[in-house]
Amino acid sequence: MFYPEELIEEVRIRNDIIEVVSSYVKLERKGRRYFGLCPFHNEKSPSFCIEPAKQFFYCFGCNKGGSVIQFIMGIEHLDFLEALKFLAERAGIDLPEPEDAGEKEKSRMRAQILEVNKEAARFFFSTLAGKNGARAQGYLIKRGLTEKTIRQFGLGLAPGGWNDLTKALLNKGAEKNLLLSSGLSIETKNGELVDRFRDRIIFPIFNIRGNIIGFGGRVIDGSQPKYMNSPDTPVYNKSRELYGLNYARQSKSRKLLIVEGYMDVISLHQAGIDYAVASLGTALTQSQAWILKKYAEEVIIAYDSDSAGQAATMRGLDILEKAGCNIRVLIIPDGKDPDDYIRNNGPEKFKNLVDRAISLLDYKIRAEKNMYSLDTVDDRLKLLNSIADILAAHDNSIERELYTKNYAEQYGISLESLNSEVQKRRNRKQSGNRTYSLNKNTTQTRGLPEFLSVDSRYGELEYMLLVMLCNDNRLFSKVSKEYNTGAYMDEGARKIAEKLYNRLEQNKNCVLAELLNVLDPKEASYMVRITEINSGLEDTDKAVQQILNKLEILKLEDLQKQTIERIKNEEDGIKRQELGLEFSKRAERIAELKRLT
Ligand code: CTP
Ligand code: MN
Repeated sequence: MFYPEELIEEVRIRNDIIEVVSSYVKLERKGRRYFGLCPFHNEKSPSFCIEPAKQFFYCFGCNKGGSVIQFIMGIEHLDFLEALKFLAERAGIDLPEPEDAGEKEKSRMRAQILEVNKEAARFFFSTLAGKNGARAQGYLIKRGLTEKTIRQFGLGLAPGGWNDLTKALLNKGAEKNLLLSSGLSIETKNGELVDRFRDRIIFPIFNIRGNIIGFGGRVIDGSQPKYMNSPDTPVYNKSRELYGLNYARQSKSRKLLIVEGYMDVISLHQAGIDYAVASLGTALTQSQAWILKKYAEEVIIAYDSDSAGQAATMRGLDILEKAGCNIRVLIIPDGKDPDDYIRNNGPEKFKNLVDRAISLLDYKIRAEKNMYSLDTVDDRLKLLNSIADILAAHDNSIERELYTKNYAEQYGISLESLNSEVQKRRNRKQSGNRTYSLNKNTTQTRGLPEFLSVDSRYGELEYMLLVMLCNDNRLFSKVSKEYNTGAYMDEGARKIAEKLYNRLEQNKNCVLAELLNVLDPKEASYMVRITEINSGLEDTDKAVQQILNKLEILKLEDLQKQTIERIKNEEDGIKRQELGLEFSKRAERIAELKRLT
């Protein structure tokens, strides 16, 4: 393990499993648990559940279970370290660079790429300021950018030659390999390096620490492709960065406005809307949504109002909603992007649009409305049905009520009938969920997950003992006295016992979810399954005693078998008698234990 256990545990605790899972699964509360459709197998009624108090998930259908870490490993297809990084990022925890040789090398590489990027940005910037930059400067000025803005965003120009930058960087001692892995140079078929960006306006991309992690480059004329971008590199992952966030996160507004393009962000900042960011030529991702959620109380989405932009808006809304953002949608008239709009109408008009940005519900309903012409009865009916669907799916009851009233008025229908349509749908939804009942007997007989093989006699009992210990750490002195780590017959259980005992010996508490941190997904699923089976137990002291008794019986039975063998092979009559006595004493003890259990 690269990281200390305390740090792993901090990452786990700071990522509430209900919040994380809610981004992927629609959960409904039932008693002390939340239920939803399992994302790990196909099902129609929910058998996936989470117990918030215990911070783990379990599916009664496919038997997968674990803490928030195993959930992310499974759903994002990540290994342990990647899942940990993912969750650390989500919770805003900086993981230190691991002390591993391979990781150190990567970290050195990252530092070098950042350094060469900075060098390249300087080169582009001075090219723009130089005598060959006049045309590009004219272009930027024509687009309304001031010199201050150009400097603030570090804009530059890639010269038109084949390898001006590559040559300059090689002269400064950069290695060929570094130029390739930073994405600044490309290797031709005959092994020569040429510049990736040629004759383009350059937009350096900063991360929140102000490092330059990549570049975008726009043609000055109308040629294609309009933009070229750095590839993903060890320092640049497009799906996790937002252009402009280094400035926008410092905005006093606590808002973030998400737009499509570099130029939109720059124009908006210049116009005083200092909370604009853009996703980098890709659709909005879940990681970006989490970042937005982290920095802003409210996220306003302002994609182009062309149809591609509107489709992107809809997808973006889902992702933002899953991340738990407060969302509004800003609609720009006449199919313009924010940059066009500001240039034509000025900053104040745009600020009015921000103030009038509509709610998520409104936006969804407006989109429905555009699909129907409202002059036939049939169309009106369809629209009202869609409106009822959208309202019914909205969980906030106060908002639902307000909007129901609003739409009833707007579309001239009686409040009662719209209300009753919405209610009908909600009832249907709830009764659909209610059909699921947790039947302990059937789930128990379904058997334990096949994927973890445990010792057929000791395994289940030993895992049960470990689960009990996690549930109630006070049992430790008793359990460790009667069943030390050497006593464990199941190897997996012994490994886990060593970890758990070790912690409890140091008087550190350990809950099950924490122990899961160091287990692989199979072991974690198995542990959670055992927990679920035993979750109804009232008297843990008694239950633990029973498990210890059962384990003792198994051990004694093993010894009895050995004794029988020895009696069979023993020539000496006296020794045989002694063995016989030993056998019957043990048989008595077994009988006694069986009576107790
Ligand atoms: N983009 C890209 N590659 C392309 C086209 C677009 O990466 N070939 C990305 C860029 O990040 C761009 C954004 O998508 O900023 C939006 O594209 P578009 O609306 O076409 O460009 P604008 O940003 O409006 O650029 P401009 O106003 O300069 O035309
Ligand atoms: Mn534009």
